[in-house]
This record gives sequence, structure tokens and C-alpha cells, in this order.
Amino acid sequence: MQVVTEIEAMRAISREVHHRGESVALVPTMGAFHAGHLALMRRARELATVTVVSLFVNPLQFGPGEDWARYPRRLESDRAAAEAAGVDYLFVPSESAMYPHGEVVARVVVGRMAEVLCGRSRPTHFNGVATVVAKLFHIVEPDWAVFGQKDGQQVAIIRRMVEDLNFPVRIAVVPTVREPTGLALSSRNEYLTEAERRKAAALYQALSAGQARFAGGERHPQVLVEAVRAVLAEAGIQPEYVELVQAWDLGAAPDPLAPGAYLLAVAAWVGTARLIDNVILTVPEPSAS
Ligand code: PAF
Repeated sequence: MQVVTEIEAMRAISREVHHRGESVALVPTMGAFHAGHLALMRRARELATVTVVSLFVNPLQFGPGEDWARYPRRLESDRAAAEAAGVDYLFVPSESAMYPHGEVVARVVVGRMAEVLCGRSRPTHFNGVATVVAKLFHIVEPDWAVFGQKDGQQVAIIRRMVEDLNFPVRIAVVPTVREPTGLALSSRNEYLTEAERRKAAALYQALSAGQARFAGGERHPQVLVEAVRAVLAEAGIQPEYVELVQAWDLGAAPDPLAPGAYLLAVAAWVGTARLIDNVILTVPEPSAS
């Protein structure tokens, strides 16, 4: 595996791969690799002949007072993990390479999809994500880009950005990887104490309660949301939000739910970690017969 730090070198490598008639899959990351990242890397290796993992803790997606300074950084063990996972190139640009003027004047502004769910408490977050992902797409020119379903709002926004701005890249989404307790793997789980980690498992238990009500035929969004809230309350967790929205555009879910896919999503603080999780609920089209 080669570590690449220069933007021009990364672009030249990707162009050379395409020149050979081969393909590139990109896994954008902020490092601190766990089994969730390794699943993304595995998927990337299935999709293309060459796998590029980018590692950049993007300051643009952290608001004032958020955990940018505290975010785990461990390049050496990440490098070893990516190499063991069969990654071909680890792209680690510096902040001055990505944002040479410091101030970013031209950026991607996402609009309505960035203003709901996590966007309410993190108003600049998704513009920062979309901007850095757009930059990575321009630099790496991947055929595929791979993201985790755990960041469900991010996935919906990036899919939409790719359509709205005609990026020639296909998006692959990998299911959330969980601890045996159900807790979704996240680099931010490192902020949890052992007791908080046990408490945090309630997020997925709560979503599972909503999922069970849905599987039992419940189709009223508010009832499903209340089923999630009840489990969180029992665990002593006051959520930042529990919402059910249309998975593709994050718009309001109809009551009762119509055929389509919905994101049942939660965000909550546990200790000093702000955690998110979601499940997809799909209402099938009525059968033609
Ligand atoms: O999901 C993440 O780790 C980040 O939001 C991403 C996509 C790498 C952009 O910085």
C-alpha cells in the first residue's frame, strides 16, 4: 500500500489506473478505523480494481465548540489496518493542501436536506461534508464511492449531491456494523466510559422496538417514533431527536406511511459523545394480483 499526501500525485495515480482500463473505488474517512471502516474497504475492493481510502479530519464539517480537536487521530495504526485490509492507496492530504487559503469561499451548500435531523443542531455540518466529499471526488475521480448506512443523512445528501451536480461516480452503501450489544460502531464511541457504552446500546434497542412495531403492521409515524422514545426514556436517555423521514430526500413521512423507504433515525448525547443511529423501514408496493 502506498501513502499519498499530494493532491496532484493522487489525481495522477487515479488517471493512470483509468488509462490502464481499470477502476477506482474511494472510501472517504476521517480515520480511527474500526470494523465499520474495514467493511467499507472490503466493499470497495469488490467494486473496483483499485481501492483508495482517504483519511482527512475535515475541519469544515465541525462547528464551533465541537470535537474537532479531540477527534481521534492515529495515522500509524490506521495505516497498518488499511494495509492489512488490502487497500492500495491511503490518501492523507494535509489541511493546507485541502484548504490552501484557510478561508473557503466556494463551497457546496446543500439546502433543505442539511437543515433537518442532525442539521438542526449542526447547521454547517453537511455543507462541510458535501464540500470535502466534492473535493475528494474531483481529486480521486473514483468510479465508486463507499459510505456507511450509519450516517444515513450523510448518505442521502451525498446521493443527492451526486445527482444534482452530475458527478460521474456511483455510490455504494454498506450496512451498519454493530457491537454484540447492538451499539453502532463509531469513532466517537471512544469517548464513552464502560457504563456509558452499555447505556448507549439503548439507541439500537429503541430503534429495534420501532422496527418491531413496524413489522407488526404499525404505519403511523408518530406511534413508531413514540415506541423508540419509550425505550430511550427507560434507559434514561433524552434524545436530541427521534424522527421518521423519507429515506431518499429526508422529507416528512406521510401518515399513514405509503409504499417507500423510510429512515427511522435517532441522535442522543451519552456522556460526552453525541451518537447517531438509524434503521430503514420499507413499505412494499401492494402486489399487482
Ligand atoms: O463519514 C465521515 O467520516 C465523514 O463525514 C466524511 C464522509 C469522510 C467526510 O469528511
